[in-house]
Amino acid sequence: MTQVTNTVRFVLDGQIVEAQGKRRTTTVLDYLREELHRTGTKEGCAEGDCGACVVLVGELNAAGDGVDYLPVNACLQLLPSLDGKSVKTIESLKKPDGMLHPVQDAMVKCHGSQCGFCTPGIVMSLAHVVQVVPGRGQALSRGEINDALSGNLCRCTGYKPIVEATQQACSTALATDPASLKIDSSADVPLLKEIKRATHPTYSLDGDIVVQPVVRTKKGSEFVSPATLAEVADYLVKNPGTTLLAGSSEIGLQVNKQFARPGHICYLGNVAELKAVAESPKAWRIGAMVSLERVLELVKSSLPDFAEVLRRFGSPPIRATATLAGNIANGSPIGDSMPCLLALGAMLVLRRGDKQRTVALDKFYTGQKQNVLQPSEFIEAIELPKPAVGQTFRAHKVSKRFEQDISATCCAMSFSLVGGKLKNVKLAYNGLAPSPCRAPKLEAVLEGKSPADVTAEALDAAVAASFIARDGLRATWAYRSLVARNLVLEFVEDAAEAQSAHTLATA
Ligand SMILES: Cc1cc2nc3c(=O)[nH]c(=O)nc-3n(C[C@H](O)[C@H](O)[C@H](O)COP(=O)(O)OP(=O)(O)OC[C@H]3O[C@@H](n4cnc5c(N)ncnc54)[C@H](O)[C@@H]3O)c2cc1C
Ligand code: FES
Ligand code: FES
Repeated sequence: MTQVTNTVRFVLDGQIVEAQGKRRTTTVLDYLREELHRTGTKEGCAEGDCGACVVLVGELNAAGDGVDYLPVNACLQLLPSLDGKSVKTIESLKKPDGMLHPVQDAMVKCHGSQCGFCTPGIVMSLAHVVQVVPGRGQALSRGEINDALSGNLCRCTGYKPIVEATQQACSTALATDPASLKIDSSADVPLLKEIKRATHPTYSLDGDIVVQPVVRTKKGSEFVSPATLAEVADYLVKNPGTTLLAGSSEIGLQVNKQFARPGHICYLGNVAELKAVAESPKAWRIGAMVSLERVLELVKSSLPDFAEVLRRFGSPPIRATATLAGNIANGSPIGDSMPCLLALGAMLVLRRGDKQRTVALDKFYTGQKQNVLQPSEFIEAIELPKPAVGQTFRAHKVSKRFEQDISATCCAMSFSLVGGKLKNVKLAYNGLAPSPCRAPKLEAVLEGKSPADVTAEALDAAVAASFIARDGLRATWAYRSLVARNLVLEFVEDAAEAQSAHTLATA
């Protein structure tokens, strides 16, 4: 229950590591390689794209008897965010008797490595995903393995032997020793309890909240990691210029590539209220620290197109840490979750001090990377309505590569077919305007029409009237506007086909 200024404490393979006197922006990757000489973990791109740096970071599970590990890009994570957590690197996998992890063993046997630069990251991604295998008693499918590797680039071996190695590791372990596929955290559990961070605020004698920094520089800049929403809100009111840190997939990039050195940093990853999801029959309330991977699981059955957009968002290590709130707050014109959230009518719960207000996402952006957040205000949660009976939701992301790429354009559309006419149409895009947005003129073209009466010409005219034609780095305007129109036509045609199939079936 301790927080020691300038000391970051985490568990590595049955030992507590005390990282002292490090900068707030030292990355986990640099610390592992340069201070702990865990050089198995590699730096390829330092921007979350190649996966050479993947390690596992874990927290005590709810029962307190094991550790839940997630794959993360060590190049993007800031060292102080590790305080109170457990880390596993490629070196952690070898057993004390020298036995390799089943994935490592199979990679050797199937010739899954040539130059070897990508191999530690690949093995860590796979060592994470194969942990589900003992529980379900079934090896991973090719699709599951491909998904798990979508954030790991290998330029010389090719993926075939790597996929085969994974399948072989699963089947051999299932036949002999399924538990060998699990990450062994037994030595780490008691140590994690020892370094557990406080879960309640500390108060001064005057009754003021005191947020103890994990790290404070000589100049007085702090990295704080509060445990409660009240502490976050109080800290931001007292320190309005503070940078919030959630999954670090943007901030880590700014630190590495733009050499950003934010003033105070407030990490949200230990705030239980922000990690919670509340569910009612009509909506989900998604805390600001809920990862995209968890959101994907939430929407998988009722909003499959949204789930597919999220499945193609970054890669598993990006989605394991990156948050919906971070995507919204970052406000990139090509942010992927926003078209879906806009078409579904998402609301944002904003907080400043002890005051809360609710703003429709539709009213959140005021320009490119500009929004209505006041100083000291932050996103506490996202309220996402569940689809109503009869409501159809469609979304599709168009990008140059299918995996691990950013949108040229993503389109999302929600509507109902009432008496054969499109009703309650909500249509949103990214990539066409300074921020992701609804497209009211296109909605007007569609509202009340029968799908067969929707024409490409009317949609083209509405696209031209709605947006300023601008070529971008990722696509020309001609391409984007064509995609914007064609995706709507496809959604509408699919709806018409589904309706006529339904009519035939019930006739
Ligand atoms: C390799 C890679 C692939 C990516 N792929 C995609 C992709 O496919 N699609 C896509 O849209 N984006 C993508 N991104 C961008 C990024 O992952 C997303 O924007 C992500 O959702 C950011 O969330 P985060 O939690 O990591 O944010 P952070 O990096 O922690 O923060 C991002 C910004 O939001 C602010 N912030 C965070 N939480 C709050 C809050 N609660 N209230 C107010 N402000 C807050 C931070 O201060 C910061 O300004 C990718 C990034 C990388 C590095
Ligand atoms: S070094 Fe490439 S993803 Fe981290
Ligand atoms: S083995 Fe060389 S990059 Fe993968």
